[in-house]
Amino acid sequence: MKICCIGAGYVGGPTMAMIAKQCPDIPVHVVDLNQARIDAWNSDELPIYEPGLDEVVKEARGRNLTFSTDVDKAIAEADMIFIAVNTPTKTFGVGAGRAANLEFIEKCARRIAEVAQGHKIVVEKSTLPVRTAEAVKRILSSANQGATFDVLSNPEFLAEGTAIEDLLNPDRVLIGGESEAAIEALSDVYARWVPKTQILKTNLWSSELSKLTANAFLAQRVSSINAISALCEATEADVDEVARAIGMDSRIGPKFLKASVGFGGSCFQKDILNLVYLCEHFGLREVAAYWEQVVIMNDYQKRRFAEGICRTMFSTVSDKKIAIWGFAFKKDTNDTRESAAIYVCRDLLRERARLAIYDPQVPEDKMRFDLLAAMGDLSGTVSDIDRKLVENNVTVVHSAEAAAEEAHAIAVLTEWDEFKSLDFKKIIETMKAPAFVFDGRNVLNRAMLDEVGFETIGIGKSGIGG
Ligand code: UDX
Ligand code: UDX
Ligand code: ADP
Repeated sequence: MKICCIGAGYVGGPTMAMIAKQCPDIPVHVVDLNQARIDAWNSDELPIYEPGLDEVVKEARGRNLTFSTDVDKAIAEADMIFIAVNTPTKTFGVGAGRAANLEFIEKCARRIAEVAQGHKIVVEKSTLPVRTAEAVKRILSSANQGATFDVLSNPEFLAEGTAIEDLLNPDRVLIGGESEAAIEALSDVYARWVPKTQILKTNLWSSELSKLTANAFLAQRVSSINAISALCEATEADVDEVARAIGMDSRIGPKFLKASVGFGGSCFQKDILNLVYLCEHFGLREVAAYWEQVVIMNDYQKRRFAEGICRTMFSTVSDKKIAIWGFAFKKDTNDTRESAAIYVCRDLLRERARLAIYDPQVPEDKMRFDLLAAMGDLSGTVSDIDRKLVENNVTVVHSAEAAAEEAHAIAVLTEWDEFKSLDFKKIIETMKAPAFVFDGRNVLNRAMLDEVGFETIGIGKSGIGG
């Protein structure tokens, strides 16, 4: 048995590293068109930051885990081909801003059809709209050398920042397909380390839909608690107390109830918009509107946070320096896709604030790229004024303390652990008075900040916007 994976990103890289680690006898070949990314996978500086990933890659690389750009060779040699390419939201044409762009998946399927010989099991790893497998099957059936295929859906449920732990101890592994033999072959790979009772087998369509549904439910919980956070701010209830109280109801459960500046990441928004698009396609307007509200609430939360900062700071942030702590969409990742920080920074820049951004893992060029992209319209056009704001009003610094120097306020946008143990007595001395902290993640110790002399505003705590 030989495995190949097309796509060496946040999903393909860690997942294949784990399979290679657990199955030392199975050669695993990860390929990508992006030469720089492959070079990074072959170096000591992996292209993605993920706790524990370095060790797993080091153990398997050179033994049974290889990274290259030789897509055709990898396809030709493999018995099982995972597709883990990106499926971003379409930015053009029909369904722009909603439907998934399946261009990359289709290109992979066509490549496989062209190159493959003999029998191959093709596994969809990327999150896809329901019934994508149908399209993949049709493209594969155009293969002309008598090659045969089984298509499986095996969505990945890992969360970034905890990918290795999630891969090691998954709540479940889901395999959807039609061919018993193919399902068994993939199940046997996971069974090396995942208990068989946690390997679920369904039909193709249930598997595809379960992935979208899981992400929609998770995102809905965040939007639900964020909706309540707005009400808490108006009523002197405390959202963390409310979350604790409802989370102890075993039917609700305690996880994923942390109010925040808004959810980000490559999946939640994309998958819900995808679900919305699908529902509309099938004429289910009420269902589409129900799920779309989760994204509308998330946009509201990000906007509300930025507006709260301006209102609290005497209704103007123009020419004021604001320290931005954290730019990644959550802690322990260098990923910024759809990060709430991008949109909060954009709104503050449009109010003419000066931003000093610090994130322990996100490089400066990525921040500037994201900010410019957020300033643009769907086609990517950015006005001269907005471009100048990103160029002139943003500095990127190398510590949280440096960001806060001479600043009027600190905005915590990612919950990095290091922010909790800083010396706030020292920090306030370097700041303008009154010094504000806007804790978009409710991670800092409020009592301590109050004592030090900060004006502290949290999410879902009374006081935002005054
Ligand atoms: C509810 C709350 O559960 C309880 O904590 C609160 O004190 C009062 O309101 P109740 O209305 O008595 O209790 O019953 P519950 O079991 O919550 O069911 C409410 C409705 O939801 C029922 O019509 C039930 O059939 C329906 N339901 C519940 C579903 O359709 N699907 C489910 O998965 C659960
Ligand atoms: C998510 C799913 O969790 C995972 O199963 C799927 O495979 C991919 O999408 P990911 O986006 O990596 O994973 O991270 P996740 O931990 O789900 O967080 C998503 C966003 O929600 C982050 O911005 C996070 O900060 C936010 N969030 C999460 C909250 O604001 N509050 C919470 O309680 C939980
Ligand atoms: P994800 O979070 O889903 O893993 P990423 O964007 O991190 O998404 O990774 C997807 C990877 O797939 C990228 O590195 C991209 O270069 C790669 N890719 C996209 N299309 C192809 C293709 N046709 N052949 C090989 N690699 C591809």
